[in-house]
Amino acid sequence: MKLSRQQIDDINTKLDTVIDPAGDARGLPNEFYTDPTLFAFERDQVLANSWVAVAFASDVPEPGHAIPVEFMGMPLLVLRNKENELRVYHNVCSHRGMLLVSEQTRLRTVIRCPYHSWSYDLNGQLISTPLIGGAGKNSCDGFANEAHGLKVVRFAVWMDIVFVNLSGTGQSFDNYIAPLESRWAPFWGTGGEHKFSPGESPGKLDLSVNCNWKLAIENYCEAYHLPWVHPTLNEYSPLDQHFNINDEASMAGQGTHQYDLVQTDATKLPTISGWPADRIHHAEYLALYPNTLLGLQADHAFAVIVIPGNVGTSQERLQILYTGAALTQADYAASRDAVLQSWDKVFREDIFAVEGMQKGRSSPAYNGGVLTPLQDIPTHNFHSWVARQYKSALKSAQFK
Ligand code: FES
Ligand SMILES: [Fe+2]
Repeated sequence: MKLSRQQIDDINTKLDTVIDPAGDARGLPNEFYTDPTLFAFERDQVLANSWVAVAFASDVPEPGHAIPVEFMGMPLLVLRNKENELRVYHNVCSHRGMLLVSEQTRLRTVIRCPYHSWSYDLNGQLISTPLIGGAGKNSCDGFANEAHGLKVVRFAVWMDIVFVNLSGTGQSFDNYIAPLESRWAPFWGTGGEHKFSPGESPGKLDLSVNCNWKLAIENYCEAYHLPWVHPTLNEYSPLDQHFNINDEASMAGQGTHQYDLVQTDATKLPTISGWPADRIHHAEYLALYPNTLLGLQADHAFAVIVIPGNVGTSQERLQILYTGAALTQADYAASRDAVLQSWDKVFREDIFAVEGMQKGRSSPAYNGGVLTPLQDIPTHNFHSWVARQYKSALKSAQFK
């Protein structure tokens, strides 16, 4: 996506006021939520260089399982090969660009294109091109199957989340995730993400929201709306027990000192090994930029991936994770159900807020608004991150 010199200068000027210190700064202006041109620029020049969440590894639990993902209009395919290894490809046939997989499925041995029936194995190699050489001939001179396999997407899996780096040239995933791992090491130790896994059902929730993906992220960053949007949550986890998390370059959010471990009947969910006993009521809710929302408590964790659809629509996909016996034992089914119900309620309560803010961004009377010096600091952190990414992408942007 190319922008004109004038557009680039205008955007840069607006972004300067977004990066100003909280209190002086304005929020991102309307066009960052409504303009399809900027949305395309954001995908190809801003988000492509980062690590974006697109699926859960548990969406494809067994060999042959495959799930299509549409990320900002870009078709991707997440699958497990015969060796049970995860793979991510561009979900497009090398021949005439047909979409290969259109719904969640279990592949037997190949991915067969529904148009002219070319087939790829689950490692992306093109292995069959029926009738390519005419009647009865499945090969032809001058055509080498090995040059036309599926296009691979660079990926990493962390705490069940499948992250992709679309440009293929971004920083290593280890570098990307290191600040979060070090922030949470005092709670879950080294490699703590392995202590949590998706339990038996129920543990997933999928929501469609009519808003730009960034509104879902910034709404999660703040606790300010708790008393009005989440009155039930605010009773057991009140606003005055929350604190802002704002001292990080690649994430922000909030936390509480008053988290109550989940208990239904006589069964308390087990906690992960090594969690400090004197901080058992500590919980953190972080937006890991750009599009992952995380919750960490001693007895369960969760991730919400926010998948942008178009400039004004997004998918929110929740996966809850547990530890030890809570993963599978029937004794914990009621607790697992209670956890899902509580987060289901919270995330549904937020929908009217993020959709209302999206509608508000069509108002010429609004242009970024005010980010107040206390309650909106994590949101300011996210806006500044977006602005810095944009500015760096604009430096190398091509002009029309
Ligand atoms: S487009 Fe896939 S085989 Fe022709
Ligand atoms: Fe909320």
